[in-house]
Amino acid sequence: MTSYPVDMTVKPEVEAFFDEATNTISYIVKDPTSDACAIIDSVMDIDYAAGRITYDHADTMIARVTEMGGTLEWIIETHVHADHLSAAPYIQQKLGGKIGVGEKIMVVQETFGKVFNEGTEFQRDGSQFDALFKDGDTYRIGNMQGFAMYTPGHTPACMVHVIGNAAFTGDTLFMPDGGSARADFPGGDAGELYDSIQRVLALPDDMRLFMCHDYGPNGRDIAWETSVGEEKAHNIHVGGGKTKEEFVKFRTERDAQLDMPKLIIPSLQVNMRAGEVPTDDDGNPVLKVPVNGL
Ligand SMILES: [Fe+2]
Repeated sequence: MTSYPVDMTVKPEVEAFFDEATNTISYIVKDPTSDACAIIDSVMDIDYAAGRITYDHADTMIARVTEMGGTLEWIIETHVHADHLSAAPYIQQKLGGKIGVGEKIMVVQETFGKVFNEGTEFQRDGSQFDALFKDGDTYRIGNMQGFAMYTPGHTPACMVHVIGNAAFTGDTLFMPDGGSARADFPGGDAGELYDSIQRVLALPDDMRLFMCHDYGPNGRDIAWETSVGEEKAHNIHVGGGKTKEEFVKFRTERDAQLDMPKLIIPSLQVNMRAGEVPTDDDGNPVLKVPVNGL
């Protein structure tokens, strides 16, 4: 069992940027004692029907980092998202910073390299990223230390990132009334997801938790911040001491009824390349649609 360097005395400044098209929340996390900051789970805009990519969401975040005089040190992906495209390379080109993801990205690249029938030029070793995190790996954002917590289940490469008293859950948890994310993508596992969630819930009760998605269940306003204590008490899928057996049964039955995310086909091709759009033999950006491949 990895022991994690939790330090609740460090209190990063967190700003959230909600993307209405995909219900994703991207974050700027800033060190209050320096100009250093990180961006977590950025979004590139896509009109998939038109095959058009734009950068309004990323530009808003870039403008904010510039306005605060921030030095971008990290661009972190909590996992290979299946419902939105990452803008990491675009942001890196404008602001610098290292792009980091969990080292199990290699498993995801192997799986989806096959689904999309990628050629040998598609490296399956994670080399498209600047840093590959293992469980418990630490990194600096100015004077703050962050660490990665390995949380497989939704995907095999999911990491929760903990920076001081703030944890960025990716899709390992949703708000208490949203429950949890699906665990039926290739390499996903409901039992593993339950175990990963328990490790997040073992963090201090007053740890701030920031979600990657929210869908405003039952008509409530979109929200993205909760705490470990709130999740433990009230999460509708895992709170109040629900057992692993109960969770796995519920999650498996629910997942069997879910449609594929609308943007899964472009998202995987781009995100498994650290946000780069693949190109054809002439170097033109192009996306594939494998028929009956997923
Ligand atoms: Fe996801």
